Amino acid sequence: MTTDNNSVSRRGLFGAAGKATVVAGIAGGITAPFRSLGGVAWAATAPKTVKKWILTKNVGDDNKLTADHFKLIEEPMPQIKKGEALVKVLLCNIHANTRNLMKKGGSTKVGETDKTNYSIAQVIQSMDKTFKEGDTITCAGGWNTYQTTSSDLSREDVGAGHGAPREFALVEELNGSNSRTAYVFRPVMLKQYTPDVLMDVFGTSGLTAYYGVREVGPIMPRDRVAVSGTTGSVGAMAAQICKARGATVVGFGGGTDRAKWVVDTLGMDKGIDYRATDLDAQLKAAFPNGIDVYVDGTGGPLSEAVAKQMNQDSRYFSYGGAAQIYKDLQPDASNMATAKEYGMTDLIEKIIKERHIKLEAWNQAVWAQDRIEAENKLSQLVNTKKLKPINTVVKGFENIPKGVMSQYDGSNPYGKLQLQYDV
Ligand SMILES: NC(=O)c1ccc[n+]([C@@H]2O[C@H](COP(=O)([O-])OP(=O)(O)OC[C@H]3O[C@@H](n4cnc5c(N)ncnc54)[C@H](OP(=O)(O)O)[C@@H]3O)[C@@H](O)[C@H]2O)c1
Repeated sequence: MTTDNNSVSRRGLFGAAGKATVVAGIAGGITAPFRSLGGVAWAATAPKTVKKWILTKNVGDDNKLTADHFKLIEEPMPQIKKGEALVKVLLCNIHANTRNLMKKGGSTKVGETDKTNYSIAQVIQSMDKTFKEGDTITCAGGWNTYQTTSSDLSREDVGAGHGAPREFALVEELNGSNSRTAYVFRPVMLKQYTPDVLMDVFGTSGLTAYYGVREVGPIMPRDRVAVSGTTGSVGAMAAQICKARGATVVGFGGGTDRAKWVVDTLGMDKGIDYRATDLDAQLKAAFPNGIDVYVDGTGGPLSEAVAKQMNQDSRYFSYGGAAQIYKDLQPDASNMATAKEYGMTDLIEKIIKERHIKLEAWNQAVWAQDRIEAENKLSQLVNTKKLKPINTVVKGFENIPKGVMSQYDGSNPYGKLQLQYDV
């Protein structure tokens, strides 16, 4: 497994000083990521088989995810039919809920690969109306070297299934595709960014953060903002976007080191250890005039503590329930009940009602028609150095199980966890 310190890389793209150190992972790997792989050259050298990691058994109620849940198989290279494209998967994002979906009844089935995560892939051959040979696309990608995909929204087998309505004819006008899960990256994006950045800043993490901050905005310099999950993929983006608007931003980390990272690497005004026993007192001290905006991907006890400090008519963007997902990683997991969607609790809902707090809570897919706007705004922030990609890249197709397990074994990758297939 290729890492920067013999364990899974914990480094984002940028070092502690916030300057580019050139990638943990990808810059040394895919040096010419967007060259065409199809056509005659492909036919001559095409591999005959596809490597694929499949699930051997469901994750149990104990949440333990171990190497024996994964098995490497080889299958014949699929032949495309009308309406399909063959793609080579370059890099796969791992979302927080991956382990849950490996449980009985989850979308990842025993004997099959995971199809719930988004990948960046190159189109090798195509009989699809949207994807052309040589295109670089994002799609629901399996833990396999090659696969077929389609831009046809009506096909059940190509969606990542994150629960958004299927009726959206989202990017059709922009992209010629009616799919909410598959998207052709524009050449201007491919020229500027490596695959890991495209899938972090311009993937679901950056997009969720962008739409969320937009919808609880405009964020003003006078705003006092709290961002939970700041060491994670969406929170790290959201915190930086709020900071770029001139607001005072306080973030959180699990432990004092991670709270320090929020200040030292991410550049926030303050980082608080959300596990601290004096959390309420620390929040009061950090927000003497109360909280105007809360961006929340965790829910649970931290969010209850934050909600108590929120001002009348303040704004709350709730997008996830990481406290529940990672419950087993907490030193004291007993107080982590967040049964409601996006980590809401009765107390938080009561406070929202009583203080007339504006609540935004949705899956980012509902905003997919605004993708080009988001790409352009996020791009401006990256290019003016106000937004750093934060990701942890695990290299090597053979290391996919280790990479996935690192999300849940206490390695605590910073930012977006990504698996790079070709090294
Ligand atoms: N609505 C949408 O469209 C959308 C989009 C993307 C993600 N999501 C959801 O949003 C949530 C977060 O996603 P993500 O990708 O940012 O996750 P992630 O990268 O895995 O990060 C998880 C974050 O949660 C923190 N955390 C873990 N347990 C916590 C607890 N008990 N209390 C407070 N903080 C805790 C972690 O901090 P430490 O590691 O420092 O402990 C880390 O910062 C997930 O539920 C995901 O499914 C929703």
